[in-house]
Amino acid sequence: MFHRIKLIFVIVFIWQTPSTESTFWTNSLVELFRFLQESIMVDRMESAQPREEVQFICKNRKLKTALSLPSLVNTTTTSHNKWLDIIPSLPLKFFIHGWKDYGSNNWVEQLQDEWIKFQNITLCVVDWGALSLKDYKSATLNVFDVGSTVAGLIESLERMDERFNRTQVTIAGYSLGAHAAGYAGQLLNGELGEIIGLDAAGPLFTIPADVGDTFRLDKGDARFVQVMHTSMGTLGTHMKSGHADFYPNGGVSPQSNCVLTSATENPRNSECFHYGDFSFHSPFIHRCCCLQSFISHTVFQAIIQS
Ligand SMILES: *[C@@H]1O[C@H](CO)[C@@H](O)[C@H](O)[C@H]1NC(C)=O
Ligand SMILES: *[C@@H]1O[C@H](CO)[C@@H](O)[C@H](O)[C@H]1NC(C)=O
Ligand SMILES: *[C@@H]1O[C@H](CO)[C@@H](O)[C@H](O)[C@H]1NC(C)=O
Repeated sequence: MFHRIKLIFVIVFIWQTPSTESTFWTNSLVELFRFLQESIMVDRMESAQPREEVQFICKNRKLKTALSLPSLVNTTTTSHNKWLDIIPSLPLKFFIHGWKDYGSNNWVEQLQDEWIKFQNITLCVVDWGALSLKDYKSATLNVFDVGSTVAGLIESLERMDERFNRTQVTIAGYSLGAHAAGYAGQLLNGELGEIIGLDAAGPLFTIPADVGDTFRLDKGDARFVQVMHTSMGTLGTHMKSGHADFYPNGGVSPQSNCVLTSATENPRNSECFHYGDFSFHSPFIHRCCCLQSFISHTVFQAIIQS
């Protein structure tokens, strides 16, 4: 119903728009795209639910090998619940990978190892490979299920252990994973401690038209949302989406330190600078002076205080 009314508005908008003929048609197409894309997304968002196929691969300095933990937990059965061993000791952070990726991929494991070296935390990689190894459009719509799975887990953990509080949780997400993080945060009423968006995906979210902020990462999704842009306007979003947005090297591809991997054969290909992103983020985690500020809030706070 809401969308039918909106379509009428779109038609009136197109009809009323006084502009030259070419911008008129461009605007019309953009409005039409926005309408169609939002209609598809709203259906998927309303039917989104936690998915068993999503797995959590958790690691901290004490665990020699990563623990694979289930996404659906029965909060009434406390025995054999490995989550209960994980929760109390260390701050819990999540990392959500992007399209056509999976939790046991090399760079994801490497990122996990680097991050726990840098901070004494438990980092759980949200492995949604079963839902991400699809065509781009399907993967895009699956982010709502992924977000719903992460939010559902956080709610279960809160029920199981009263010391656990969403305000202490950080979710980092790369590319489509950034929007999944945003949706998890939205389901948790924006009460999550922090979301870190790493080159949040642009196509179908802000390219060719930006969909409403319920459908993508925005600053309402957590108490503190920080976003790094590295392939703005191509594979990454151009839109300011956090309380703090960072634009290393201008935020666009080519990024100067893109390292070629098998996924990124052509150095001038913008994909390289989106995938290659993590050769950028990963050393960033313990070497670059900026990352500490990126992952913790210190520099951000210094900026707003100055
Ligand atoms: C959770 O575990 C309890 C106790 O073992 C059981 O009675 C209940 O059916 C389980 N709930 C679900 C949703 O599996
Ligand atoms: C990490 O934090 C835990 C809990 O506060 C502490 O017991 C442990 O010594 C710390 N480990 C390292 C290596 O810093
Ligand atoms: C979580 O922490 C926030 C802020 O410290 C507090 O307002 C809230 O009551 C806590 N929630 C629970 C369930 O303890």
